[in-house]
Amino acid sequence: MAHIIVVGNEKGGSGKSTTSMHVATALARLGHRVGALDLDVRQRSFGRYLENRSHFTQSEGLDLPTPRLGHLEPESDGIDPLSRAIETLEPDCDFILLDCPGSHTKLSQMAHTLADTLITPMNDSFIDFDLLARLSPDGRILGPSIYAEMVWSARQLRGQAGAGPIDWLVLRNRLGTQQMHNKRKVGGALDTLSKRIGFRVAPGFSERVIFRELFPRGLTLLDLKDIGTEQLSMSNIAARQELRDLIAELRLPGVSVTF
Ligand SMILES: Nc1ncnc2c1ncn2[C@@H]1O[C@H](COP(=O)(O)OP(=O)(O)O)[C@@H](O)[C@H]1O
Ligand SMILES: [Mg+2]
Repeated sequence: MAHIIVVGNEKGGSGKSTTSMHVATALARLGHRVGALDLDVRQRSFGRYLENRSHFTQSEGLDLPTPRLGHLEPESDGIDPLSRAIETLEPDCDFILLDCPGSHTKLSQMAHTLADTLITPMNDSFIDFDLLARLSPDGRILGPSIYAEMVWSARQLRGQAGAGPIDWLVLRNRLGTQQMHNKRKVGGALDTLSKRIGFRVAPGFSERVIFRELFPRGLTLLDLKDIGTEQLSMSNIAARQELRDLIAELRLPGVSVTF
């Protein structure tokens, strides 16, 4: 059985596709067999990112470890597109990564019930926090909010089906070097909430321009050395360390971080 990693959050622009690409590619680089599915059937950023990688490596004659992109075919024989796509990938994969859309769709809901590991990237902002929990003006947690409730019902469904628990990690993305006050406040609220609704807070990614530049060539931070044309700046070295910390914190079966 492949271990299913779902990257989800109902908020758009929180870094789901960027995280999906970096986690899936990092696992492929560590020698694991990785399948990928883009459930954002409209934007397809993750799928396009992987396609860009295939085109770039082919045109440059490079051999970079690359996750295998699966496809959702229309429903047939009563088997839904997601189950069928996973069935197709599963025999050849140790991990399958599902990138969800930033909205509440049936596909996304289904994906959450399949998650062995769920990664929820969020911007370090109370507007993003609001999808996890409602806060009073003085910062008290009033209760879980829409996205956390969706994860809760996915956990219920898994429980009823006898599937294992979801290991849920919330990842703080686009952390700034300034705004220390906001960072501390969001961090404190997340720590309190993590105990209430059962997630772990993962080491996140800082705001870095490199994340926005790699898409057209389908590259990730880990590939820069291999393509030979790029000097690793201090910022890129720090970003690699953030990715290394994240992969370690995911505590995935059979994975040890060697990059
Ligand atoms: N750590 C980061 N630093 C800088 N830009 C980032 C970072 N993470 C994501 N971005 C940028 O933010 C935008 C949204 O990211 P994306 O991964 O597409 O989010 P989502 O899939 O959640 O909608 C993109 O333009 C992406 O390049
Ligand atoms: Mg996306």
